[in-house]
Amino acid sequence: MDTLPNSQVPAKYAREIKRMLKEKNAVLLAHYYQEPQIQDLADFVGDSLSLANEAAKSEAKLIVFAGVHFMAETVKIMNPDKTVVVPDLSASCSLAESCTADSFKEFIDSHPDHTVVSYINTTADVKAISDIICTSSNAEKIIRSIPEEQPIIFGPNKNMGKYLNEKTGRNMLLWDGICVVHEAFALNKITELVKQYPEAKIIAHPESHASILKIASFIGSTSALIKYAREDNATTYIVATEVGILHKMKMQVADKKLIPAPIAEDNSCACSECAYMKLNTLEKLYYCIKNENPKVELTEQLRTSALRPIERMLEIS
Ligand code: 13P
Ligand code: SF4
Repeated sequence: MDTLPNSQVPAKYAREIKRMLKEKNAVLLAHYYQEPQIQDLADFVGDSLSLANEAAKSEAKLIVFAGVHFMAETVKIMNPDKTVVVPDLSASCSLAESCTADSFKEFIDSHPDHTVVSYINTTADVKAISDIICTSSNAEKIIRSIPEEQPIIFGPNKNMGKYLNEKTGRNMLLWDGICVVHEAFALNKITELVKQYPEAKIIAHPESHASILKIASFIGSTSALIKYAREDNATTYIVATEVGILHKMKMQVADKKLIPAPIAEDNSCACSECAYMKLNTLEKLYYCIKNENPKVELTEQLRTSALRPIERMLEIS
């Protein structure tokens, strides 16, 4: 790696990133969990579904994706003719990792005649053996679109699956996967906070544990949580999702108090940060645009197999 004239100054990276994006006619897409400096440079910040849609709409030939691997891979699956680059190719996801294609296939094979609904937080190999994909913003709609008598396998997030079973009255078979970030919230600490701020509403991402979802006033995707905080009339929110969301949320509800949901005592992390998302740094972003590398690549056979269930999702949502 060559260095910038003054690599100590993040502002220099920011300036160069802006300049290169313009020069290369590239678009920078970022997830809400990215560090604030990256979000501020992005052309578009959104949830998994909106990022995929935005990439498809974009005229840019070079898509710089600041998020985790499965999200960038979904963009590549939907945009084979565009170059998709990510700051750190190893930015994975605990959920996607908890569900390998081989073990998921065994699960599917042992329950024949089930429709396989997979959350977008999966690898392309898992998508390729699924019937339909869903995201946190359209999962309920996707499940309801499947005839009631049809049995369903849902993976890989068991918390979200359990929540959807309760919401829709289905009895989907659930893959036993978790997100390490959303699993870490501490119920006792949240209830202590509620005593301190009795006016506070708890809002949570559906990947959170059932005990947290049970006490939440609102459950939704990252975009839906921001929209709720903006449109609802409460003044204080305890936000149970990755802490990066507070950056955009604060911009939209400057007059409200936002408290990140605390995590368990014995957890070594300081707060609810996704270590995978945070692998992307401003410096890596700079080099990724400069070198147009690392690229997200996959075989055409895998791409077309993984595209099919994504297209089914897009037809419905
Ligand atoms: P959203 O689609 O709600 O942004 O969620 C993605 C994710 O990874 C949540 O942990
Ligand atoms: Fe994966 Fe959880 Fe990180 Fe989302 S927050 S990318 S589900 S590990």
